[in-house]
Amino acid sequence: MQDLTPDRASLDPIEIASRDEIAALQLDRLKRMLRHAYDNVPLYRQRFEGAGMHPDDVASLADLAKLPFTTKADLRDTYPFGMFAVPRERIARIHASSGTTGKPTVVGYTAGDLAVFGDMVARSLRASGVRPGDMVHNAYGYGLFTGGLGAHAGIEKLGATVVPVSGGMTPRQVMLIEDFRPDAITVTPSYMLNILEEFRRQGLDPRATSLKVGIFGAEPWTNAMRAEVESAFDMHAVDIYGLSEIMGPGVANECVETKDGLHVWEDHFYPEIVDPETGAVLPDGEMGELVFTTLTKEAIPLIRYRTRDLTRLMPGTARSMRRMEKITGRSDDMIILRGVNVFPTQVEEQLLATPGLAPHFQIVLTREGPLDAMRVTVEALPDAAGAGARAAAGADLARRIKDVVGVTAAVDVAEPGGAPRSEGKARRVVDERPKEG
Ligand code: DLL
Repeated sequence: MQDLTPDRASLDPIEIASRDEIAALQLDRLKRMLRHAYDNVPLYRQRFEGAGMHPDDVASLADLAKLPFTTKADLRDTYPFGMFAVPRERIARIHASSGTTGKPTVVGYTAGDLAVFGDMVARSLRASGVRPGDMVHNAYGYGLFTGGLGAHAGIEKLGATVVPVSGGMTPRQVMLIEDFRPDAITVTPSYMLNILEEFRRQGLDPRATSLKVGIFGAEPWTNAMRAEVESAFDMHAVDIYGLSEIMGPGVANECVETKDGLHVWEDHFYPEIVDPETGAVLPDGEMGELVFTTLTKEAIPLIRYRTRDLTRLMPGTARSMRRMEKITGRSDDMIILRGVNVFPTQVEEQLLATPGLAPHFQIVLTREGPLDAMRVTVEALPDAAGAGARAAAGADLARRIKDVVGVTAAVDVAEPGGAPRSEGKARRVVDERPKEG
């Protein structure tokens, strides 16, 4: 793999500023943002008043912890535009993320917000090793999802060439990578595996592609998956994080030279980790739920937004800004099986350690009598597809899950191609348990 470390002179000065400088900028922006939310969003004025507070009461970054949280339910209750802090006419773009049930979560951006969005994705791509003049194959889905258009704008802003492929039509993805010879690809990690498979199906060598780096996000993926993709394509695999409520992709990104967690772009997004049960702020280093306060958003300023994503904060390394560890999972995706907490990422790690199995998987939860049961559907690699080899690989994975994760799972090893595929975010858990009540 090529050394893609960006030139220090190409970074935004704030990325490598002192912690004092960063904190001063954050506090200044926080105060302005709180005032903006209070003045323009009725929900926030009510929240402040309910808590007996005024934006002027926030004199330090630590004071933020006195303010109530914002949740997805607040966005839903004010659907579609009730949390906008600017007149509808000033909204330059709308995005939405599809909820599992009912109405989507709607977000808006002013022209100024879109400029920051472009800058943060450009910064993320630069951290990933993409340079002006490079070509980027953008296979994140275009549309209401922030991935496609968000990455698109950042690629342009960086001065790279964007190929706006969007998701799907996998044979065409491979053809364009072969013919256009892009330097980088932006795509969900699960769809990258699908593209990998298509390379192999066509008898092409994925290690021979022009790709130097893949920028993967929108869903959890493990370091085991990184190793798998890096060796399959002979390219760097870097993690990009974000959520539509806060902006979209580019809230945090790994640096290609260290790959040691994602630097949070703290000049625009203020992170906290809280205890998911009590809401108490936890010190850096402790695992909990990630909470963000936007520092510069005009259209939808969000105060202490609960992401449901679980991680921990760590000090900066390649940049001064703090890092977050790769996301373990969403609290919504946590499976509690006979008292043991299980995340799909833990299953992914064990799957990638098991010889003879492809990296595709889905977890199905069922109820057997009074107890919950977990079934993992995986599939055999083509050279281990015989009945005997499949049974052995399935038993091997079941044993690893039992030994390392601590739960009993039934493993179904399908034939090659038998596990579900994704063209965007993979659906890792299917819950077939009867609904309570
Ligand atoms: O997924 C934004 C995005 C697009 C990020 C492309 C990166 C690349 P939403 O659809 O609103 O936005 O979903 C946000 O996806 O709360 C996490 O649970 C999950 N997620 C996003 N990035 C990562 C990541 C986009 N790198 C939700 N690792 C978030 C783990 C991620 N989970």
